[in-house]
Parts: sequence; C-alpha cells; structure tokens
Amino acid sequence: MVNINSKTGYVGLLGYPLGHSVSPIMQNAAFKSRNINNIYIALEVKPQDLETVVKAIPKMNFAGFNVTIPYKIEIMKYLDEIDDLAQFIGAVNTVVIKDGKMKGYNTDGIGFMRSLEEELGVKPEGKNIFILGSGGASRAISMTLAMNKVGKMYICNRTFEKAESLVADINERFGQISQAVPMEKEKMAEAISEADILINTTSVGTYPNVDEMPIDKDLLHGSLAVCDIVYNPRKTKLLLEAEKLGCRSMSGLGMLIFQGAEAFEIWTGVEAPANTMFEAAEAFYNHSV
Ligand code: ATR
Repeated sequence: MVNINSKTGYVGLLGYPLGHSVSPIMQNAAFKSRNINNIYIALEVKPQDLETVVKAIPKMNFAGFNVTIPYKIEIMKYLDEIDDLAQFIGAVNTVVIKDGKMKGYNTDGIGFMRSLEEELGVKPEGKNIFILGSGGASRAISMTLAMNKVGKMYICNRTFEKAESLVADINERFGQISQAVPMEKEKMAEAISEADILINTTSVGTYPNVDEMPIDKDLLHGSLAVCDIVYNPRKTKLLLEAEKLGCRSMSGLGMLIFQGAEAFEIWTGVEAPANTMFEAAEAFYNHSV
C-alpha cells in the first residue's frame, strides 16, 4: 500500500470465512516495497452473494484477486479464460483482470516448486517423487510437477481410491508417469526407496497434533529431500525426524509465500520482492501462530 488516492488499484482475497489470513500483510508489504499503487483487501463473501460480487469486480478498479476456501472450484464458471495448468488442477487461486476480462490461474503448485528450488536448491526435473495425500493441495502440486517433467511420481493416500483417481488424471494428460501406492508399509517402502523427494500434503502434524506424523519414520532415508506443506509448527515431527537422518527439509511456509509471489507477478508484471514477503509473513506468524 502506498498513498491511497483515486488511482489506487484493488486486489482482493475472496473466500468465506477468511479468518486470519497472511495474504493482506504479505501482499501490501510487497506493493509498498515495489512502489505499486495497489491495496490488497479481504473480500469475505457469503455463498449466496458470490455471483453478484464476482460479476461486479471487473467493473471496478481491480487488478485481480486471490481465491481461497470454499470458492477455488466454483469461481471457474465465472471466468472468461482459464490457464492450462489451473484447468488440469481443476481449481483457481489467482484471477487477473485485463480490459474487463477475468483469467484464472493456480499458483499453489508453482509456489511449492519455487520454494523447492529457492530454499533447497532442488530442481524437480527427472526426480522421483513420493507424495502423501491426494486432496486439493496434492492435486495442485502433482499436476505442476508433472508439467515440469519429473521422473516417476508415487501418490499414497489413506483412501486408496482417491489416489487412483488422481493418478488416472495425471497419466491421462502426461503419460504413464504416476502410480498409486496403498498405505501399506511394504509397498510404501518400495516406492520411497526409489524416491528423491517426499512431500506431505496432508494436514497430519499440524498444531495442536504436533506429535503426529503422516508416515512411519523407519520409511525415511537420508538421501530424501523431505517437504511438508504444513507450516504450523514450522518444524513438524516429520521434518524433525527427517533432519535426524540428515535429510534436507522444507516447511510449507515457502509454498505459501511463493504462491503469493507468483500471484503478485501475474497481477503486476513486476518481480515480487520475495524477501520482503518472507519477512512480513514470518513476523505475522511469530505473533499469531
Ligand atoms: P487440501 O486441500 O489441504 O489438500 P483436502 O482436499 O481435504 O485438503 O485433502 C486432505 C488430504 O489429507 C487427503 O488426502 C486426506 O486423506 P483421505 O483422502 O483419506 O481423506 C489426507 N488426510 C487428512 N487427514 C489425514 C489423516 N489423519 N491421516 C491420513 N491422511 C489424512
């Protein structure tokens, strides 16, 4: 946020309920740092008002908006255009408005990939990946990785049918690169022994259940890069156990920040000040989480 005046552009966060979101703090710090005359505001809109609000947004001075729970799928029917990756994922978290037209993107998986590359220095191309969970976050991450030419992708989920369904969607678009793994120790061990990167996309280990981890620690090995999308706590039990084995590890905070950085770049065409966004988010979580 710079000086609010008649030229100030809006960017919003559309969801219901919104609770304590880090996005306004992080994005306003970024606009200020880059001297861009935009403000980022919360748009907490009830389901019965969604259509009216979304149709009105392009008629005002909005550069775009983020979309969060529960509207990431429903928003798609109101958009003029949807980027290919968002279409594959089946959900939109970022909308840009140009000449009154709305185009949807999904930056969640890209946020994860940027975090992997910038925090751990790991490039996913050719790497074998083991993913725990097959919900919305898993779908965004796995589709984005598939688009970026990873090696083999194993998807393991408590409800096996959901893993099979995600695998079928990935393989239909990208060839036979993924395989569903049942949550059975031997089958998991076999797949993990071939993996370079392990990603937890489930909520297991989130505060207050900090003593839980999504897999048995015996299944980890020291050459894995272990990633958790959980960021509260910053070091989940999974990451702590991985570090004991000498694994490189990464929390979900980077994904959260880089999905925002990517959205910032889509709205403004300007490189996002990732360090400023990190500092703003860390200050926010150190106070509120
Ligand atoms: P998100 O959008 O965060 O991905 P989601 O779509 O509700 O959330 O998906 C949650 C994922 O975490 C699912 O894969 C879920 O497994 P099921 O499909 O079997 O429900 C997984 N998950 C959640 N709690 C879990 C638990 N206690 N143990 C194992 N998996 C769990």
